[in-house]
Amino acid sequence: MARLALYPGSFDPFTLGHLDIAQRALRLFDAVEIIVAANPEKKASMPADVRAALIQEATADIQKLSVRTFEGLVAAYAEARGATALIRGVRSACDITYEAKMAIANSRLCAELETIFLLTAPAYAHTSSSLVRDIARWGGDLTPFVPPAVAAALRRPYA
Ligand code: PNS
Repeated sequence: MARLALYPGSFDPFTLGHLDIAQRALRLFDAVEIIVAANPEKKASMPADVRAALIQEATADIQKLSVRTFEGLVAAYAEARGATALIRGVRSACDITYEAKMAIANSRLCAELETIFLLTAPAYAHTSSSLVRDIARWGGDLTPFVPPAVAAALRRPYA
């Protein structure tokens, strides 16, 4: 049976660090689905379908990688999709407390679901979506941080 891993996140926006994690996850699983959280209570800079479309554009040439939006519990979505694992990137020890809470909650909600933590590549350890949004706000060069499709979108003012 093909092993599917989900890579959930806000991806607001999707960075080169996220891209690296998705590509490395593909070496461990038969297929990876990036799932973009559509959380009506969390104010994102772009709607989930726009974030997902940009990821789709940035990853179009990668086989076995798909992109969807989702709303609700990630564990319920994983169960419905028959996914065996969740992928999360960890940049440093500071991320672990938050990540461990989510991993434990998700395993309580779906006992078969393993969260796999991949250490962010050193080149992207200091990249975060909030840092990218700040650089974009002030018109800085985004090329070291995000795929070209995302950089182009961030240069356009979002109405
Ligand atoms: O990129 P982020 O913001 O760290 O991603 C957080 C995300 C979307 C993975 C998390 O908030 C999530 O899983 N939300 C869906 C709701 C849910 O399942 N909550 C319980 C998990 S603790």
